[in-house]
Amino acid sequence: MQSPIVELDFTDWRQAHGRPEWTAAVESGQVLYFPRLGFEVLPDEKPLLREEMLAPESRNVSLGADGVLKGAGGTAAEQRQLAAMIGRFRQQAQQFVDALLPEYRGQLRVAPTSFRPRQVETRAQSVRADDQRLHVDAFPSRPNYGERILRVFANVNPAGVPRVWRVGDAFEAVARQFLPRAKPYRLWQAQVLNALHVTKSLRSEYDHLMLQLHDLMKFDEVYQKSGTQVSVPFAAGSVWVCYSDQATHAVMSGQYMMEQTLYLPPGREANPQASPLAILTRLVGRPLIGVGAGTAC
Ligand code: SIN
Ligand code: FE
Repeated sequence: MQSPIVELDFTDWRQAHGRPEWTAAVESGQVLYFPRLGFEVLPDEKPLLREEMLAPESRNVSLGADGVLKGAGGTAAEQRQLAAMIGRFRQQAQQFVDALLPEYRGQLRVAPTSFRPRQVETRAQSVRADDQRLHVDAFPSRPNYGERILRVFANVNPAGVPRVWRVGDAFEAVARQFLPRAKPYRLWQAQVLNALHVTKSLRSEYDHLMLQLHDLMKFDEVYQKSGTQVSVPFAAGSVWVCYSDQATHAVMSGQYMMEQTLYLPPGREANPQASPLAILTRLVGRPLIGVGAGTAC
């Protein structure tokens, strides 16, 4: 397979001046990796890098666009400090993506920013929720109709521990492998889920297929063990960027990471034909996001 990682040697968040080949790389599902571009945790923020900064029962700490911090432990003063640190990362991540991928300027919608203080390898999870299994990201409750999930990650581990991912084969190869096993889309089922508020809007056939791929990949032990993949240690003090709805990924180990999600409306890629929506539409042979599309029953 094509190397799933493109390494770029920036040392400064303001150094990126977009090049079409970087946009093409990320749109082909590759991960842009910046081994020398760290997010700076200030000396008086270092004490925030501990597991108790996560509230019990929470998966991540997150900072909303409204400045509200959720899922945090620690004292009120520490939470204010943490919100400032996460906010600083959000700003840098946004400026960085604007410079790195200028085609998307003004079009990205900012999701809450997360801080992930949990140790990955000691986390017990159901198969479906287990991100130690290769998958593409898909949202069970929030249909996105082909909106893209662009993510900026920074490993802020203070002890030099890498965040180790596995990165798998190109989206199209994976889609070709798993689509034949996908359950068919049924409009009435999507309507029931919507009526019961299991989903926030009607699940499209695209959203259905993305979830099927996510689940089929995670539940396939042979694919998990023997599917085409490489192990990638993202160093402490590094940054990486990918479309997590396209790059097949799993996180194996590590602790303390910052993450910013940016949503790009469908069709706004430099090359929309490379998107999961376009690939699935070609493979299935009919539109997947029109309401009522593919609804034989
Ligand atoms: C994921 O998106 O699957 C998790 C990534 C990470 O926590 O490193
Ligand atoms: Fe994921």
